[in-house]
Amino acid sequence: MDTPETSSRRTTGPAVESGRPLVVVDHVDKHFGQLHVLRDITTVVHRGEVVVVIGPSGSGKSTLCRAINRLETIDSGTITIDGSPLPEEGKDLARLRADVGMVFQSFNLFAHKTVLENVTLGPIRVRGMAKRDAEDKAMRLLERVGVADQAGKMPSQLSGGQQQRVAIARSLAMDPKLILLDEPTSALDPEMINEVLDVMVGLAAEGMTMVVVTHEMGFARKAADRVLFMADGAIVEEATPEEFFTNPRSDRAKDFLSKILHH
Ligand SMILES: Nc1ncnc2c1ncn2[C@@H]1O[C@H](COP(=O)(O)OP(=O)(O)OP(=O)(O)O)[C@@H](O)[C@H]1O
Ligand SMILES: [Mg+2]
Repeated sequence: MDTPETSSRRTTGPAVESGRPLVVVDHVDKHFGQLHVLRDITTVVHRGEVVVVIGPSGSGKSTLCRAINRLETIDSGTITIDGSPLPEEGKDLARLRADVGMVFQSFNLFAHKTVLENVTLGPIRVRGMAKRDAEDKAMRLLERVGVADQAGKMPSQLSGGQQQRVAIARSLAMDPKLILLDEPTSALDPEMINEVLDVMVGLAAEGMTMVVVTHEMGFARKAADRVLFMADGAIVEEATPEEFFTNPRSDRAKDFLSKILHH
């Protein structure tokens, strides 16, 4: 397996060459009981980088994302964000959560709050922003993801694609340093996938640091600097999308790609 230093496009691409490490995952292991779900995971995400995580079901992709956000604890190894180790709890942990946006497969909006309230809640409660300012900001973000006209509705009145775009706007409202997106389009009807992917491609182009669990190869090819292929809790390959999709090295990756290409 290549190290991040040798395989990432940032070593050759000027756009991200100057990116400093934002997330450093160093020799991380995690078990759920007897199950070894993260095995000696080491990788670095640089500022402005877009990393796509791909791999079979149960390979540990969500657990890795959740560990980076400390929604899961780890058994050993370290994870640092912007130079600081992940806080255990308390105020520092709340700050970390605010700095690391997370978008899930199931949109996780607050069902009893309007779209606008969903987006203003974090900035008001966590960042201490004035309501008026939070609303102005939220409207700009809803505009950006193309759902400003839905601001007064409840989440259940929106399509899945619209809800997911609200979820992205909600994470952006916190000005996160990094956004983790865990299969953001896999619960969507096919005709709604592109509207969410387009928003993600736009974020990537603007330089947002993103870790995206997705099997959408079009997105990976268009927007990713690097693909991490996971199997059985380990990073088996780490390569540019071009290298990974055209010339996967391991049998695991070849087998996986043949399945997602021919399903
Ligand atoms: N809270 C938990 N308790 C026990 N086992 C868990 C828990 N969460 C995940 N696992 C197990 O850990 C392994 C990795 O799960 P994870 O959700 O990270 O995989 P994944 O790669 O995201 O899979 P998928 O593509 O299906 O989302 C799986 O075997 C899963 O069953
Ligand atoms: Mg998962």
